[in-house]
Amino acid sequence: MFDKTQKLPIACDHGAFEMKEFLKDQLITNGFQVEDMGTYSDASVDYPDLIHPLAKAINDEVYPMGIILCGSGNGAQIVANKYLNVRAGLCWTVEQAQLTRMHNNANIMSIPGRFVEKDVAWEMLQAFLNTDFEGGRHIGRVEKISQLL
Ligand code: RB5
Repeated sequence: MFDKTQKLPIACDHGAFEMKEFLKDQLITNGFQVEDMGTYSDASVDYPDLIHPLAKAINDEVYPMGIILCGSGNGAQIVANKYLNVRAGLCWTVEQAQLTRMHNNANIMSIPGRFVEKDVAWEMLQAFLNTDFEGGRHIGRVEKISQLL
């Protein structure tokens, strides 16, 4: 369960700017403290420029969790997962959002802004923040993710 006293960073490119604005408004309305790390308009940008700062902040434990978005969700997720302490899960259903918390202990959710409806994205976001890591057999598996060969 995400602690609402902590800030939640969110970042996107132009492909998901409208979705980011929608989710930010929903979060603020529901009592979350949002750190909006851009982008701040629908002008074309390069998603790595927006996602690297958020992913680095999660990697450095400045924030416990974060939300990233791009058109497909894939570019953002690929950038974020370059950081060893980041586990970014690409989510397009509520169940995916729950599973990536329960099984992968994901600390970032990547949302494909062009492929999910706004109400689904908001449901997914709440599911992600409200679901805890299951632990148990998943602990060793998650530890192995950053054990590169
Ligand atoms: C931007 O057009 C689009 O390429 C981007 O949002 C994302 O889908 C990249 O993976």
